[in-house]
Amino acid sequence: MADLETNLLKFKGYYFRNERFNINLLENTDDFEVRDDDVFLVTYPKSGTIWCQQILSLIYFEEHRKRTEHLETADRVPYFEYMFEKLDFDESPSPRLFTTHLPYYLVPRGLKNKKAKIIYVYRNPKDVMCSYFYFVNMLPIFKAADTIEEFMKQFLEGKVMGSLWFDHIRGWYEHRSHFNIQFMAYEEMKKDLRSSVLKLCKFLGKDLSGEAVDDVVRQATFESMKDDPLANYENVLNTRVGVTRREGHFLRKGTIGDWKNHMTVEQNERFDKIFQEQMKDFPLQFLWDIN
Ligand code: A3P
Repeated sequence: MADLETNLLKFKGYYFRNERFNINLLENTDDFEVRDDDVFLVTYPKSGTIWCQQILSLIYFEEHRKRTEHLETADRVPYFEYMFEKLDFDESPSPRLFTTHLPYYLVPRGLKNKKAKIIYVYRNPKDVMCSYFYFVNMLPIFKAADTIEEFMKQFLEGKVMGSLWFDHIRGWYEHRSHFNIQFMAYEEMKKDLRSSVLKLCKFLGKDLSGEAVDDVVRQATFESMKDDPLANYENVLNTRVGVTRREGHFLRKGTIGDWKNHMTVEQNERFDKIFQEQMKDFPLQFLWDIN
């Protein structure tokens, strides 16, 4: 059901963006043939998706690592539920890497049978919210928000692409035993990128040389990616979204704790209260709590 005011599409209880949405695939996800060596990168929006897309491309493809190819990261690790390019997934050679914001209950059955590997990247929801605020104001396909307050209401009601952050992570985490899944925190990647790359390689069964790991790390820093037209989504934005864009970049700031520059004390307390209510009894220890 399309919501014209927000330009969102509610489908099977979850908010998608109402643009380039692959409804045929989503109507029949269980028919989608998952392969053993497929990898699905799962995120709630604004949690480090592009970053991990780049890391996966670099780990998997030597030609990406050595820069002998000129393929956008977005094409190496395409979205599952949105069609930016006409791709025939059935014809794509293995290993296939996918990106998705889907909740656990909407993914293909093959994933639930642990056929493929899943990487779930999560981030402090306050930073997600601030990053998202800039994002909706950058792309006219979303309803712009004048203030953080206005966007925070939408975010905490789950009236954004990706629905409610709390539901997304809880769903995936509580059903983790059904999947072959590795959870990764944005903050952990930011604090120690090399260890995070090694952790991913181990999970993916990729035995890279020390030099190759160095290449991955070097090309996955915020600074390198910001300058890399194949990784920073500038081309994708300019040529594919099909709309003029307002001010802003996908690679905006790339820091931990930017919410402190945006939220008032009162907003922070309100957010914390809702966080405590929503996440009580949630077993995952969040890194941003440990500091
Ligand atoms: P900010 O808006 O806080 O800067 P997504 O890809 O899920 O849309 O997430 C975008 C966020 O990830 C943005 O956050 C972006 O700057 C950040 N990001 C992208 N690449 C990064 C990198 N190499 N290192 C750190 N943060 C990165």
